[in-house]
Amino acid sequence: MLAKCPLRTCALTMKILGIETSCDETALCVIEGTGSLDHPSFNVLGTALFSQVKLHEQYGGVFPNLAKREHSKNLIPLLQKLWTELGETKTSSSNTPLSPEQIKHLRSLLTHEPELFEALVPFIESVPKPAIDAIAVTYGPGLEPALWVGINCAKALAYIWNIPVIPVNHMEGHIVSVLTSSQNTITFPALALLISGGHTELVHIDAWTRYSIIGETRDDAVGEAFDKVARMLGLPYPGGPHISALAARERAQKKSDDSLYTLPRPMIHSPDFDFSFSGLKTAVLYMIKNIPVLTDDIKQKIAYEFEEAVVDVLLHKTKKALLTHKSSSLIIGGGVIANTYIREKFLKLEEEISGLTVSIPEMNLATDNAVMIAVAGYIEASINTDVIATDPNSIVAQGNVRL
Ligand code: KG4
Ligand code: ZN
Repeated sequence: MLAKCPLRTCALTMKILGIETSCDETALCVIEGTGSLDHPSFNVLGTALFSQVKLHEQYGGVFPNLAKREHSKNLIPLLQKLWTELGETKTSSSNTPLSPEQIKHLRSLLTHEPELFEALVPFIESVPKPAIDAIAVTYGPGLEPALWVGINCAKALAYIWNIPVIPVNHMEGHIVSVLTSSQNTITFPALALLISGGHTELVHIDAWTRYSIIGETRDDAVGEAFDKVARMLGLPYPGGPHISALAARERAQKKSDDSLYTLPRPMIHSPDFDFSFSGLKTAVLYMIKNIPVLTDDIKQKIAYEFEEAVVDVLLHKTKKALLTHKSSSLIIGGGVIANTYIREKFLKLEEEISGLTVSIPEMNLATDNAVMIAVAGYIEASINTDVIATDPNSIVAQGNVRL
């Protein structure tokens, strides 16, 4: 049951349906959030996810209109799956036909997602109104055609079930993804390092929802660099996990420094907190051009050196930001933190910097997911209950929105 509370310290309990469609994962979840912002706690009641990775592989990256079509096709079957998992299944009393007026409104909301509309009507007519207090949906940043599918689906469900929609910034989702783990206690000011396929940012956090970007990439994001270098080495998309696997093999076998394959650490000593990864990618390109035969052994060495260069820059800039901004809580979010070596290196910072706690999401919450979106919805609603009253019709996709 939703208990509204305007104060930071009093506890809210909310069941939230999370929807994430910003890129190539169609993800849904239902979570129960409870507790004050000092000690929130989250129970994941169910999740459903479809990854489009295999479909986009042939393009070497995500193809926006294909992503949109796949989200429209898959959202309702995933919702059905989630509802079955939650035990919210069909009963004889739940067969309530929608009125012509409701159908007309849904059709107008879903003009651009006809397959979603066709699947939604029978689904809605076959399930009872769920015990859900709000829907949290990603409104940006991401691919606008893909974002719109999630937003329109949220608007349609909110209209039928008469529940609010909380618009969530995807990057806030990556930040709060650490909160599902009870051992992660955050103290402010905190610092977040966000490393994903589209972003590389250092974010100063005064308090929940008060974020300021203090440094970011001037060109490619870290994940993007992993993916592009992987492509140069003939590895499949997304390349991060493949580079990481090769680098780990090299690390285990390595006997001495192999200066034949050294790469630059771009902007490591620049006086700001910005990054640049496109030069590193280009350095790999030139290195490869000068190698007559790119053997598996050489690929392994390049992957290793690339990962080391990335880690050195990320660690150096993050340490500098922690000390400058006097943060004793470091949060790391985004798909690249699924990288085992980067996780290890950042966790070791706790030994190096006295009093520092490092919070990292569980492995399955590092890459895009709906749980982080629902958690961010809870945080937003706890801080600002007005968000609950937002008119869903006012929510628009914002592909380039910043934190
Ligand atoms: O956060 P995310 O799932 O999507 C965006 O919001 O962009 O991040 C995806 C990125 C991809 O570039 C992918 O290659 C990278 O995360 N990634 C990794 C690993 N797993 C995923 N990068 C390095 N090592 C990994 N193990
Ligand atoms: Zn992401």
